[in-house]
Amino acid sequence: MTGLNIPNQPRILIVGQGAREHAIAWKLAQSPRRPTLFAAPGNPGMRAVCECLDVSAGDVEAVVDAAKQHRIDLVVVGPEQPLSLGLVDRLTQNGIRCFGPSQQAAELETSKAFAKALMKDAKVPTASYEVFTDAKAAQEYVKRCGAPIVIKADGLAAGKGVVVAQTVSEAESAIDDMMLEKRFGDAGAKLVVESFLEGTEVSLMFFVDDSAVVPMLPARDHKPVYDADRGPNTGGMGAFAPVSSFLEAGLTEVVESTIVHPALNTLKERGIHYRGVLYAGLMITANGPYVVEFNVRFGDPETEVVLPLLKTDLLEVLWAVSENRLSDVSVQWHDQAAVCVVLAAPGYPENPQTGSEITLSTGESDVVFHAGTASREGRLVTAGGRVLTVLGQAADLSKARGVAYGIVNQIYFDGKHFRTDIGLRTDLKQQ
Ligand code: AMP
Ligand code: GLY
Repeated sequence: MTGLNIPNQPRILIVGQGAREHAIAWKLAQSPRRPTLFAAPGNPGMRAVCECLDVSAGDVEAVVDAAKQHRIDLVVVGPEQPLSLGLVDRLTQNGIRCFGPSQQAAELETSKAFAKALMKDAKVPTASYEVFTDAKAAQEYVKRCGAPIVIKADGLAAGKGVVVAQTVSEAESAIDDMMLEKRFGDAGAKLVVESFLEGTEVSLMFFVDDSAVVPMLPARDHKPVYDADRGPNTGGMGAFAPVSSFLEAGLTEVVESTIVHPALNTLKERGIHYRGVLYAGLMITANGPYVVEFNVRFGDPETEVVLPLLKTDLLEVLWAVSENRLSDVSVQWHDQAAVCVVLAAPGYPENPQTGSEITLSTGESDVVFHAGTASREGRLVTAGGRVLTVLGQAADLSKARGVAYGIVNQIYFDGKHFRTDIGLRTDLKQQ
């Protein structure tokens, strides 16, 4: 036990409504501290462990009011949007303890230009880049550089503001789309154009406060909608953890020393103290790990495979960070593997069709996180592109895959689709 001052049966509010928030709630519900859990707004699956409040995650003042009304001891913020709107700052001003970075620190995710400039200052390995506010100048730049090249909207675009262009004309239309057609609104008024990195991707998240930086287990997301990484990018079709090849190559320590510490120190030099989860989206290149993106929160779907493997009480870890006492906690992991498979609605990602009834013929111990679901007249129906995230946890990756896909077969809704190859490709080499 640590000397943390955690009240008996603490009241915890989880902000958000996806499978990531369901996984956080599910894990917190296992805490020996027996917390009382609330969600704003949560989802039908979370009702098994939380009281779901009719409060939107993006309504900062309503979340602050709900936290006061329900005498919340700790608020855990899931998605980036409330962070970008300054939820943590407002909660702190109101004397409410919370887990997540300030609005200023959240710029690491909310502005790609900010993140790139910080990385340049901190000498963190990342793709070379230029920032543009003028479409013509951006077009000329991509002509000069040639393809492949990567075009990124500066602001938040729900994970869809990145185009990896294989040809110059593809890059040009991406620039037109973002800057002239304003596909992502103001988020595309500024663009980052960066060089293409070759390698394989790994996500590594860290618990961070002023006292310590603690890595979680490395995970791999699967973004394209179809098997073998074909089709358009999605919010993530599944994940697995740990990426053993990454651990065996000692890359966690490399990322800590070449990426995370320099970035956090450079933020500190600017007066920004980071607290919460820092997510490094990495490309493992022939020259080592490079940063593709930073996120300022738990990744989705990575969280659904990483948190199940956490042996230490998540409540203690989150509480310690909120007190700047992470160094007092020893964070331990299970020697197991986890795989999660996302079940998507037909038409996802372009045009998901929703409103179909869901039948879950799953067993007591099967773990299914909800995302795009709703209850309608007592029935569970699809209500979003990514509907459910199914977890398999076992002694090794192949067994975890078996568990996950076994559960997938017990779930029915019209047009359900999913990838069948989650967790099959575990190496770090280019194919
Ligand atoms: P992001 O939203 O920045 O993570 O980008 C979405 C996806 O685009 C990443 O997961 C990568 O697959 C790809 N991507 C982003 N930047 C690069 C880059 N510089 N080189 C190659 N692929 C990239
Ligand atoms: N898995 C990528 C993200 O959470 O943004």
